[in-house]
Amino acid sequence: MARHTHSESPGERREDASGSPSHIDGEKFRDTIGHFASGVTIITAQHDGTNFGVTANAVTSVSLEPAMLLVCLNRKSRTQGAVSRSRAFAVNILEERQGDLAVRFAMTGPGKFDGVELRHGDLGSPLLQGALAHLECWVMEEVAAGTHVVYLGGVHRAEYFPGEPLAYFRGRFGQLELDRDVPADADILDPALSQHFHDALTFFTHG
Ligand SMILES: Cc1cc2nc3c(=O)[nH]c(=O)nc-3n(C[C@H](O)[C@H](O)[C@H](O)COP(=O)(O)O)c2cc1C
Repeated sequence: MARHTHSESPGERREDASGSPSHIDGEKFRDTIGHFASGVTIITAQHDGTNFGVTANAVTSVSLEPAMLLVCLNRKSRTQGAVSRSRAFAVNILEERQGDLAVRFAMTGPGKFDGVELRHGDLGSPLLQGALAHLECWVMEEVAAGTHVVYLGGVHRAEYFPGEPLAYFRGRFGQLELDRDVPADADILDPALSQHFHDALTFFTHG
């Protein structure tokens, strides 16, 4: 079956003035990396008694011993400034019914926390009620990376609750539907099992 692809062969690779491979434009990168389905989080921090929060999916686990993760925050984000100053943040992994919160925290400005039930964790960061999981982190290291800052967080405390995740794919929020009869490791052991692997993503658009 013919597939529509957008690729660049090595022979076509462009170079900048210094001889390094040049970058593709941001829009192409965003549209392509958007094919990587993810969960959705709200990264929160508290600074000078004010709560900050941002919808984020640039969140990755890094190390088990010690437990570490990373998050990437845009320098323009108000939450980024609060994380840098407070040296702490919390990752709130959203539950599938929290799409409205994901939309609200993807906008900048005051009032995001109006009516949101929360408590403050050991390190001061807001922990949102109804989230699927909370990870409380302190900032171990921060690295400037283009438009963003990468924060390596040491995980101080973690907890999770029953529920299903909010998912994100190609600019839309949705629900993740798993075939509970087929564990992922069985799929790796026997490729023939892959035909029974019926993960399906059902998406809806907000607003
Ligand atoms: C699904 C989704 C994922 C996002 N992921 C990130 C992210 O990982 N890092 C980031 O800085 N912004 C991310 N954003 C954009 C921020 O949510 C947005 O810029 C927000 O307005 C920043 O709020 P603040 O200025 O109050 O911190 C994401 C937005 C959406 C909808």
